Amino acid sequence: MQSDPAIWQLWRDRRGRLSWLRIVALALLLFPFVKALAEAGAIAHGARPINDLIHRAGFWTLIFLGVTLAVTPFRSVGRFGQLADIRRLLGVGTFCYAAAHVALFCADQSYDVGKIVHEITHRWYLIVGGTAWLGLAALAATSTNGMMRRLGPARWRRLHQAVYVIALLALIHYFQQTKADVTVPTFAAGLFGWLILYRVVAWWQDTSELSTLSLFALTVVASALTFVGEAVGIGISFHVSPMLVLGSIFDIEAGIRPGWQILAAGLGVVAIDIVRSRWNRRAAREQPLRQVKAET
Ligand code: HEM
Repeated sequence: MQSDPAIWQLWRDRRGRLSWLRIVALALLLFPFVKALAEAGAIAHGARPINDLIHRAGFWTLIFLGVTLAVTPFRSVGRFGQLADIRRLLGVGTFCYAAAHVALFCADQSYDVGKIVHEITHRWYLIVGGTAWLGLAALAATSTNGMMRRLGPARWRRLHQAVYVIALLALIHYFQQTKADVTVPTFAAGLFGWLILYRVVAWWQDTSELSTLSLFALTVVASALTFVGEAVGIGISFHVSPMLVLGSIFDIEAGIRPGWQILAAGLGVVAIDIVRSRWNRRAAREQPLRQVKAET
């Protein structure tokens, strides 16, 4: 019999067994760190090394927040229940990058507490980012088994639903500090939109498993909202008609718009769902046949 693994043995599951899924998750979480180490020379010779690192840490915080939120749909679409085992690891990993992001920001301010407080309280994008950070810290602090028991399942779940507000604040922070091209933030917003719509539809239909048709419909809606959101955003920022921006979505020479990218990503999920449900149906058909063969 295997005993409970030590808390630092992140590659072992709750029963103490080596888990390849956890190893993959750890490798994924370490990737940005290793990448930054590999590019250390280029970063050090860049114009603003610490700023470069701040951007990297902030970007990966957002990416891992999205990956953590993607566990629920992928668990259901891929019929892959074990994914739940890495959700906490990914969530805490996300917070580690957020902590590094803020630590680097403090280093950039030469650890001058007065300056740090002044910056955070006088810049809107830092007030928004700081609020998101405090939210993430609260979720990370309450992610232990002891805190789950202390809070009780209902209160714990309600508290952790704050992750949607945190994601929204993180996206606003991302848009606020982006000076020119908002293509990547818009794509990120579209992906988070898809992930949140997935939960809204699942809650509305009172199911944990959406049909292929629902997945397709929510992909189309998320993609359309991304097109409209981008057009309105560009319209307001550059004082042009959003209809003019919408009219250019088929102009591929101007770049593939984030709305198309969301459509492609969502259709990828629909394709996985179709393959998995066919696979499961075939396995269910073959099961009685295998039983008969085994009995004869
Ligand atoms: C959950 C919380 C947060 C997330 C997800 C987040 C995410 C991000 C992202 C995605 C970027 C842009 C990266 C890029 O351009 O590739 C960014 C930039 C930045 N963030 Fe955050 N952030 C968070 C909280 C904070 C906090 C609390 C602070 C400071 C107290 C902060 C300070 C900055 C700074 C200084 C920049 C660069 C701005 C510039 O160069 O003009 N962030 N953040």
